[in-house]
Amino acid sequence: MEKYYITTAIDYVNGAPHIGHAYEKILTDIIARHYTQRCDDVYFLTGTDEHGIKIQKTAAAQGITPKELCDMNSQKFKSAWKALDIDYTKFIRTTDEDHEKIVQKIFDKLLKQGDIYKHSYEGLYCQGCECFLNPKDLTEDGLCPDHLKKPEVVKEENYFFRLTKYKDTLIKYIKEHPGFIVPEFRANEVLNQLEDIQDISVSRAKSNVQWGIDVLSDSEQSIYVWIDALSNYITALGFDTETPCETFKKYWPADVHVIGKDILKFHSIYWPAFLMALNLPLPKHIFAHGWITIDESKMSKSLGNVISPTSVLESFNLEYPDAFRYYMASSAPCGRDGNYSDDDFKEKVNAHLANSMGNLLNRTLSMLVKYFDGEVKPEFKGENPLAKKALGSVQIVKNHFDNFEIAEASLEIISLVDAANKYVQDNAPWTLAKEGKMTECGQVLTNVLDIMCIICALIYPYCPNIAADMTRQLSFNLKTKLDDLTADNIKCGKLISKEDIKPVFLRVDSELADKSVKK
Ligand code: ME8
Ligand code: MG
Repeated sequence: MEKYYITTAIDYVNGAPHIGHAYEKILTDIIARHYTQRCDDVYFLTGTDEHGIKIQKTAAAQGITPKELCDMNSQKFKSAWKALDIDYTKFIRTTDEDHEKIVQKIFDKLLKQGDIYKHSYEGLYCQGCECFLNPKDLTEDGLCPDHLKKPEVVKEENYFFRLTKYKDTLIKYIKEHPGFIVPEFRANEVLNQLEDIQDISVSRAKSNVQWGIDVLSDSEQSIYVWIDALSNYITALGFDTETPCETFKKYWPADVHVIGKDILKFHSIYWPAFLMALNLPLPKHIFAHGWITIDESKMSKSLGNVISPTSVLESFNLEYPDAFRYYMASSAPCGRDGNYSDDDFKEKVNAHLANSMGNLLNRTLSMLVKYFDGEVKPEFKGENPLAKKALGSVQIVKNHFDNFEIAEASLEIISLVDAANKYVQDNAPWTLAKEGKMTECGQVLTNVLDIMCIICALIYPYCPNIAADMTRQLSFNLKTKLDDLTADNIKCGKLISKEDIKPVFLRVDSELADKSVKK
């Protein structure tokens, strides 16, 4: 694998980030980190989507300019991702000057080649979706099914993209590429939507929407959000309609666009059609994750249950975001909806990260110090009964990642931790020591520590700080590629002293959490 190019959706900046936005960035960061363990060149793009009527109106309501709103809120997303250790390569803002310029050129090219045309139109516009809705998709009361708001009737002369021209090619493409839309069960939804697609509006009258990118050849029109937003995936790499630059040539097509299920249509119909019109290859995968609910209800301002990602770290007094990352990433199987609840969070991270994984390392190292002064002797090395399971887990985890099964992969890692715990329990090194069977005792401990290194490598994408703490105590090189992992990781000689053993994850304090619930 030579390169891996992965992107997230770019978030609207009309509000602050919540844990639904965080879920997507965490998933993407975990996938990106996993692929750094398989290839040397990973490019991870995220950013913010800053144009459109919604942002214009929010800014007006707050008495500030749209640009001021964007600057303020874009910064909130950046700080949240920093707190969560989201290690992106580039953060794009659609108000970046170079992005705006290239979007104008893309629009101009499509207009000149006849893929875009002007047309007078009356339609139903949903601000939540930032798109025109098909009357047949509305609820019985005439509301947008996603936002439960009445769309506004808009009569405008707009530019239209000839989506219908690409309909048959798209249907064929999706049918011939079963892995294109992930999970596969969503592909049928997309194929159904494709059945009755029409050409789509790609501009709005400047008289109605001022906060957008101007159409180069028409000062009365501004480019409509989706063509602007979707293009970020190529403008970020320095795409140009004239001479494609090296970075673009190197990374495009994207290996995967990670997005939420609500915007799948835009990514699997509009975006591929734009790319076909630009004569560019399509992304390899579009991974649509599910939605996060809070205590099983939809997150919404009106319910007052919107949770900011950093407030979780604060209310549980977490030094690292690792536990939150782990919990979010394992909250739902591939493409399904997940849920956040304080109680479940506490229970799961305490069980998996503190009791199972953290304790295993701590206990094993403590015994090594107690019985052998922290030294691994050559006679402790030999056949490791856990090796087969552990190296098998590495392959299983890789396969899961290839299918974007991030929660499923985490379960596999925990099952390896459980197997190692069972091995310790079954072989009771404390009894072996008591009986004076010191070589056997040392073998058991060394076998566990060798496997602990594999666990450390596998858990790294989810919990980078915990993994770093583990590697320090195991003297393991976290840069080891997954394919180079063996079951022989611990070097003979003095491994650790008593004062260097420290728990890698402290149980989440339930009192603190209870306080935060009451707050
Ligand atoms: O759609 N659970 O922006 P956005 C999980 N700007 N994911 C959620 C979520 C939840 N509760 N709420 C939102 C946009 N998301 C466009 C994207 S991409 C070229 C342009 C996800 O701020 C949502 O599914 O409304 C989307 O992938 C992302 O957050 C941004 O949503
Ligand atoms: Mg949205």
